[in-house]
Amino acid sequence: MHSVPVAGIRQLLVSGGSTMAAAEVARQMSEGARNLSLSGHVGFDSMPDQLVNKSVCQGFCFNILCVGETGLGKSTLMDTLFNTRFEGDPAAHNQPGVHIKSNNYELQESNVRLKLSIVNSVGFGDQINKEESYKSIVEFIDAQFEAYLQEELKIKRTLHNYHDSRIHVCLYFIAPTGHSLKSLDLVTMKKLDSKVNIIPIIAKADSISKNELQKFKIKIMSELVSNGVQIYQFPTDDETVAEINGTMNAHLPFAVVGSTEEIKIGNKMMKARQYPWGTVQVENESHCDFVKLREMLIRVNMEDLREQTHTRHYELYRRCKLEEMGFKDTDPDNKPFSLQETYEAKRNEFLGELQKKEEEMRQMFVMRVKEKESELKEAEKELHDKFDRLKKLHQDEKKKLEDKKKSLDDEINAFKQRKTAAELLQSQAQQSGSQQTLKREKERKNNPWLCTE
Ligand code: GTP
Ligand code: MG
Repeated sequence: MHSVPVAGIRQLLVSGGSTMAAAEVARQMSEGARNLSLSGHVGFDSMPDQLVNKSVCQGFCFNILCVGETGLGKSTLMDTLFNTRFEGDPAAHNQPGVHIKSNNYELQESNVRLKLSIVNSVGFGDQINKEESYKSIVEFIDAQFEAYLQEELKIKRTLHNYHDSRIHVCLYFIAPTGHSLKSLDLVTMKKLDSKVNIIPIIAKADSISKNELQKFKIKIMSELVSNGVQIYQFPTDDETVAEINGTMNAHLPFAVVGSTEEIKIGNKMMKARQYPWGTVQVENESHCDFVKLREMLIRVNMEDLREQTHTRHYELYRRCKLEEMGFKDTDPDNKPFSLQETYEAKRNEFLGELQKKEEEMRQMFVMRVKEKESELKEAEKELHDKFDRLKKLHQDEKKKLEDKKKSLDDEINAFKQRKTAAELLQSQAQQSGSQQTLKREKERKNNPWLCTE
């Protein structure tokens, strides 16, 4: 956090949009009330002072979003506007998409403290396909609204010291082409106009000639109107600023030049940009609209920007979000519907749905159990059948084998019988053979003339 005294933050008196609602309640309450005159000083005329003291004590916050293509002079303009140096180095452009970089600073001027956030859309317009460029910006703005809404919905709220990060103004930097708005500019501004106060500015206005600038401004405004883009209009309902705001509305978009460099012009040091052919003075109204922008943004309408953010843009976000969540102010017969009733109705609806879901799930469960049961029974029956089949097969096989065994046993017995008979025959034959040999031996001995074979 930096703490720097700056010039020009004085008109911030009343905080937030609560004053509008309070005024409305007071008006309703005073309707029908009797008007009395006081016979002496009471002291409630110090109310505005009390309010100022309280606000000064609390300090203020202001959040600026800078949207514009790379290198259009966003950082330089912020430095010039607040007469200080915010960022050290230029943003790194090494990420593929657009990313949001938010820096918080604390500034002080006299006894007024300002918490300032400067939010930058780094890499905006760098992509070849720029269709999605606005998305991260919209998401960032919504995220800040959502954070505030969540704080508001809490039972234990701490809104009095809540760090409000909602964007109060979007400075939309238009490239000084001199032709017309780019489709990226129109698409982005259209997406943002219901979420934030847009102040369009022509960046680096020193690079465009005076005649071209006028034509360019007219062209831009007519394109914004024809495309239905709602930019922030400086309010003209407060007569103290109606005239200046009315005049300034006609000067939109402001053509600005930024520079923190101080150059001696005459005997005064002035912020300027020096070129070989001359010098552009940032705070010279015939050179550019920087002073008009500073006047409108900081010195005259800072509080209105904060109030518009709360009463218009945040209110719209809150309404849509609560409607999305099912909250309504009236019932179908257009009768007022309290939050309690909405809650009860939602709760009953939810419980009904829950019961329905439960019943569905129970039925589904019973069905699945039945399905599984019949599947198991089927499988059991199949197993039984298979078992019976196998058993029968086994019995048949067994019987076949037993039959075979029996026939083999029979064969073995027959074979054994045949073998025994054969052995008997053989032994008988051997016996008769040896008897004949003995007989012949005997005969030869008795008759030597018998020749042997
Ligand atoms: P990124 O953060 O990178 O997107 O750039 P940026 O938009 O913050 O631009 P930055 O302020 O860094 O300025 C870029 C260059 O433009 C610097 O060289 C500045 O000096 C120059 N520049 C800034 N404002 C002006 C201006 O009003 N006129 C001219 N001619 N040049 C300017
Ligand atoms: Mg920058």
